[in-house]
Amino acid sequence: MTSDNRKPTTTDAGIPVASEENSLSVGPDGPIVLHDHYLMEQMAAFNREMIPDRQPHAKGGGAFGHFEVTHDVSRYTRAKFLQPGKTTEMVARFSTVAGESGSPDTWRDPRGFALKFYTEDGNFDMVGNNTPVFFVRDPMKFQHFIHSQKRRADNGLRDHDMQWDFWTMAPESAHQVTWLMGDRGVPASWRHMNGYSSHTYMWVNAQSERFWVKYHFKTDQGIKCMTQEQADQMAGSDADYHRRDLFNAIKRGDYPTWTLQVQIMPFEDAKTYRINPFDLTKVWPHDDYPLMEVGKMTLNRNPEDFHTQIEQAAFEPNNMVPGTGLSPDKMLLARSISYADAHRARLGVNYKHIPVNTPKVPVNSYSKGGAMRMHNASDPVYAPNSKGGSKADPERYPEDAVWSADGEFVRAAYTLRPADDDYSQANDLVNKVMDDAARDRLVNNVVGHVSGGVEEPVLSRVFEYWHNIDATIGRRIEEGVKANRGQ
Ligand code: NDP
Ligand code: HEM
Repeated sequence: MTSDNRKPTTTDAGIPVASEENSLSVGPDGPIVLHDHYLMEQMAAFNREMIPDRQPHAKGGGAFGHFEVTHDVSRYTRAKFLQPGKTTEMVARFSTVAGESGSPDTWRDPRGFALKFYTEDGNFDMVGNNTPVFFVRDPMKFQHFIHSQKRRADNGLRDHDMQWDFWTMAPESAHQVTWLMGDRGVPASWRHMNGYSSHTYMWVNAQSERFWVKYHFKTDQGIKCMTQEQADQMAGSDADYHRRDLFNAIKRGDYPTWTLQVQIMPFEDAKTYRINPFDLTKVWPHDDYPLMEVGKMTLNRNPEDFHTQIEQAAFEPNNMVPGTGLSPDKMLLARSISYADAHRARLGVNYKHIPVNTPKVPVNSYSKGGAMRMHNASDPVYAPNSKGGSKADPERYPEDAVWSADGEFVRAAYTLRPADDDYSQANDLVNKVMDDAARDRLVNNVVGHVSGGVEEPVLSRVFEYWHNIDATIGRRIEEGVKANRGQ
């Protein structure tokens, strides 16, 4: 201890240093010397403090908590963490999609809703959004979509013309864009929004019977949103408003909770349902597949170290535990490859050794070596072996979250079904779900957004796009934009 009872400053090797105020110099007026290791270490560490942002979803925040099963869904899944009475530790991260890590929390954008459950069968991740659908249905379009929402190559600016150029040339975006331009496109806080798997996943029960499932995490705080004016104001006054709101709520003991409900579709229904149940631009109407309660998620512990616990958290849709699985949704299948690759690039090959990503069960994987590995594989380092190494157990852990597929290789996103057009569910949202006041705000939001830089030939396509969603809304948007342009 120092004379005033504080810990002595050390180098990263734990060696006490003589000063953190003055560099070692050749006399007080002379040059500094290269072998001042503490100065060199400070400069070098500083230069390497930043890690790459997540490509999308760079700005976010999160917290720890638990998930408790309150209702019996064991007839649909044998996943251990979903069995009656079970409680599982977890971490959640919420985010915006397009903005960089310092961007305002209240920009209009979908919000990420990423959850990692530390189950007794390894980590289960549900990497969803606060919306039940998405802009595109084929992963080939995802990268182009994200580029169109971020910054131009020439001037480094975000560009509404580029956004609408993409959206209007990808009419399958209509449902998600209608949702985004509506009230829920700017939640009042992360505590006041729902989270959805959006994708269809699979559940498998103890008898290996299969079901299709969609996850809905419904906020128990109630839905609250910001108007565009409130959001714009907040973006200027507190860019970190949502991160701060979650942190402060948990700090004062006001723990946010979400009720998990699921829609379950019998395996065979998928073949004949009038909507392709794997198309990410569509919901399953609740009348067809009602919500069923499963449990409650509570966030009750703030991070103590944002960088290691939240910034370095790595969520991946491929983390499916026994009793759960993927589905033929092409977007989901692509995501099941993309995320682990992103983590290797962003955090390094051994990113699962970072404690927030480490499962709370033994890992016997035969992976070895690599930078920053904390504990290496033990012998034998190969399989099969006769030396007592771990062994796959297909009796106990059968590969039964599967489906069959057959066909020529083609480049196509799904065979169209009777209700698979791009506009009807957007129209349902406008006419069956929104009331007059919500429709007025939708029109205002679109008019404001489009008036912010959308030019011909994109502009005419914007009017056509909204006419296709709803003739009245389309007319009102066209009139509003033309009035703003003095036409
Ligand atoms: P329902 O009337 O059964 O459900 C309507 C859903 O819309 C509720 O989940 C509600 O969420 C949500 N909602 C309410 N206001 C808004 C808003 N301004 N923006 C976005 N969502 C809102 O209808 P259907 O199941 O037949 O679906 C009709 C339309 O509702 C769909 O085309 C879709 O656009 C939208 N929707 C449907 C969902 C689904 O999974 N079926 C999920 C979310 C939206 P809450 O209960 O939290 O208020
Ligand atoms: C983040 C890819 C679609 C939700 C990311 C990241 C990548 C990515 C590379 C950054 C990961 C990281 O660096 O940690 C893709 C691809 C998609 C896709 C290729 C489609 C083909 C979706 C969809 C959703 C979604 C449909 C929601 C349903 C998220 C969330 C994050 C994220 C929540 C942030 C996770 C976190 O908080 O760390 N995505 N994405 N993505 N994506 Fe996607």
